[in-house]
Amino acid sequence: MSRIEAPRDAAGAGAGAAATDADAAAAVRAPALPGTLVDRLLTGLPADAVLTDPDVTASYAHDMASFCPAGAPAVVVLPRTVEDVQHVMRTATELRVPVVPQGARTGLSGGANATDGCVVLSLTRMDRILEIDPVDRVAVVEPGVVNATLSRAVNEHGLYYPPDPSSWETCTIGGNIGTASGGLCCVKYGVTAEYVLGLDVVLADGRLMSTGRRTAKGVAGYDLTRLFVGSEGSLGIVVRAVLALRPKPPEQLVLAAEFASASAACDAVCRIMGTEGREAGGAGRGEGGHVPSLLELMDRTTLRAVNDLARMGLPETTEALLLVAFDTADPAADLAAVGALCEAAGATRVVPADDAAESALLLQARRLSLTALEAVKGTTMIDDVCVPRSRLGDMLEGIERVAAEYDLTIGVCAHAGDGNTHPTVCFDARDPDESRRARASFDEIMALGLELGGTITGEHGVGVLKKEWLAREIGPVGLEMQRAVKGVFDPLGILNPGKLF
Ligand code: LAC
Ligand code: ZN
Repeated sequence: MSRIEAPRDAAGAGAGAAATDADAAAAVRAPALPGTLVDRLLTGLPADAVLTDPDVTASYAHDMASFCPAGAPAVVVLPRTVEDVQHVMRTATELRVPVVPQGARTGLSGGANATDGCVVLSLTRMDRILEIDPVDRVAVVEPGVVNATLSRAVNEHGLYYPPDPSSWETCTIGGNIGTASGGLCCVKYGVTAEYVLGLDVVLADGRLMSTGRRTAKGVAGYDLTRLFVGSEGSLGIVVRAVLALRPKPPEQLVLAAEFASASAACDAVCRIMGTEGREAGGAGRGEGGHVPSLLELMDRTTLRAVNDLARMGLPETTEALLLVAFDTADPAADLAAVGALCEAAGATRVVPADDAAESALLLQARRLSLTALEAVKGTTMIDDVCVPRSRLGDMLEGIERVAAEYDLTIGVCAHAGDGNTHPTVCFDARDPDESRRARASFDEIMALGLELGGTITGEHGVGVLKKEWLAREIGPVGLEMQRAVKGVFDPLGILNPGKLF
């Protein structure tokens, strides 16, 4: 995926954000000379864990977001042990050097972008699955474990780790925890936050703290575990996680429903998720209140882009496609009931997959969507505004208005069952005017999401990209409290400075 660089002074794109950058810079008081820093790091780390070649360190500067500034790291450290991480944090505290923790850098908001002179702390070598316990239904893992590796490993024990971001084949559990990642199955199973029971965290000064539990219940004290989930590396370094698992469900079966308008597709989403017409004893044909394991939407622009990229034969003339799946005991019956609801909402065609292979093909089309949209104009800005699902139709209508107003191609795929949209602005980064319009339309879409009672980010995080917007969403008192929490854990402001606020 290609990115577009932001000017070095454009962090956050707003006056408020500029002030907070100054704060962050001031907090990191006396940057160490690179020589001193590297020497100190090498006193407690193996030589192969410390990378200093500028060409190599530069390759760790960015995640996958567009329009996010990044600085040049002084050094990249690849720890293998908790003690390695503690040594890095003690050194950084002593020398007042910023530390930017990273997973696989698949993030989409610049949360893992380097700042000038920082230590990039890449946790990808801490990639062991330490334990899988089928009775307690937990896995204990290091942060660098790849999501798909964990999913496959627990599958062998008849278990299931649900959070499945689109980047699941490469993204790491540590990164998933950092941004509280979602994915396609969240409509039934929830997001990463629901699966993190306990953490070991190396604090800014190098101390090791354990939070949470491995028990099914636990209410001892403040929920610091939850605080760390989605904290984007700004409060401490996660070095071990206890994750909840579920029994592996039956293979899911997928249905595709075509619609002549996006609003009809959104109406179908409301009929499926709403409980209207449902009688005691479970939903049947014509009744709502379903619990699909996936409920995704792709608009016409996205369908065309996927066909252009992969020739998948998706229906190009249709305005919107819904993909619905069930992993229940009788998925065919559930799909038939949901198919009837789609028809009642005006679906022009309803096609249930016959088997797992056909289902997988439909999901592959969805997973290809963002790559395909990138091919439209070379660059994309991917948003993840989430609205109450009852407002999804208004959101899609508004996005269409924004696209027309700014004369841009904006494709939308969405985790429709969650109201979580991915309006994806396709633009030519070599065209300054189009780039400017892309940035402006992105802001407009976030404003629209807030107006509709939603949030600026359902699963990608704030990072650098949405700093100004976090302040707008949570307000001055909320912001003050968040900064105060940050100050408790990171009094010197060395942990991922310049992110979030
Ligand atoms: C997806 C990522 C972009 O849903 O969140 O594909
Ligand atoms: Zn998503």
